[in-house]
Amino acid sequence: MKIGLIGLGNMGQALFLNLLDHGHEVSAWNRSAEKREATKLLLPEDSKGSVVENLQDLVANLRTGSDGQVNSQRIVIISIIKAGEAIDKMFFEGEESLLDLLKPGDIVLDMANSHYQDSKRRAGLFAQKDIHMLDVGISGGVEGARTGACMMVGGDSKAFEVVKETLESVVIPGGLGHFGTSGAGHFVKMVHNGIEYGMMQSLAEGMNMIEAKSEFAVNKAALLGVWSSGSIIQGNLVKYLQQAYKSGDNLTTESEVVGDNGTGKWVVQEALDLGVPANAIAAGLFARYSSRPENNYLAKVISAMRRVFGGHSGRDRS
Ligand SMILES: NC(=O)c1ccc[n+]([C@@H]2O[C@H](COP(=O)([O-])OP(=O)(O)OC[C@H]3O[C@@H](n4cnc5c(N)ncnc54)[C@H](OP(=O)(O)O)[C@@H]3O)[C@@H](O)[C@H]2O)c1
Repeated sequence: MKIGLIGLGNMGQALFLNLLDHGHEVSAWNRSAEKREATKLLLPEDSKGSVVENLQDLVANLRTGSDGQVNSQRIVIISIIKAGEAIDKMFFEGEESLLDLLKPGDIVLDMANSHYQDSKRRAGLFAQKDIHMLDVGISGGVEGARTGACMMVGGDSKAFEVVKETLESVVIPGGLGHFGTSGAGHFVKMVHNGIEYGMMQSLAEGMNMIEAKSEFAVNKAALLGVWSSGSIIQGNLVKYLQQAYKSGDNLTTESEVVGDNGTGKWVVQEALDLGVPANAIAAGLFARYSSRPENNYLAKVISAMRRVFGGHSGRDRS
């Protein structure tokens, strides 16, 4: 089965090369010429990959058989671009949108970190033309996209069956699952990201405690190496953190401000809507907000009150 791929950013390019490694015939397109040209240079000589100049060419290419004739077979397109408005624009706006170019029976896979409610809405819009949209949460980062990530899928189960074998070829064994109707894939991916916030916060608090206990001068890289070797908390995050400590500079060049991509906020909002606790996840999210310089004002407010009622300085400690 020929596959189309939209988006040759960090993730898309890695997935493109992964698909080619597994012998798939893939035609790819990216909005900016820069990434198209960069990807052409990476195409293995004997691969069945091509990079095309626009979306119409991508669709036309997928509809053309090896005999050069246009055929009526369904086509499958993976989209892995920036989440949000960019997706709505590409999928639905104008005469050259995907909705306009695709035909009944075709399948679109959205592999961005889209909000699951957006995915439900988009699948509904495609369904009006009998096109299936599967929402696919992908985890494993760029390395995973290149060598084997894991994927969580939502949407029509028959459409999933059509693409299952292809997806199985680019994930690690056992790393593919279908979790329900439209939105389910991105919903479970959102929860996964929330768990990540909580786990990272917990690990950071533990390492901060070890840093504070100067009496033992613990070698943190060595400790994380031991934790990675059979402990209950072993896993990718411990392994990645060990890598960061290996440079030996005790994280002095790392940013004090922690970014967030919005999915942690979605999880906390969802927890409020469902009326379920999300204490650890919310703590991780709010810790990131606290790291933002614009929120230093909060500490100033508390310091002001302590100074006025007790004459305390901002630096006193007990
Ligand atoms: N990085 C990760 O670890 C990871 C993991 C799981 C999921 N994801 C998701 O995967 C998606 C891609 O992530 P990435 O890391 O590859 O990002 P990236 O390297 O920043 O690439 C972004 C891609 O989106 C395209 N794009 C942005 N705005 C566009 C628009 N208006 N129209 C068409 N294309 C547009 C860019 O094309 P141009 O070159 O034209 O700008 C580029 O191909 C995101 O939704 C992200 O949330 C990322």
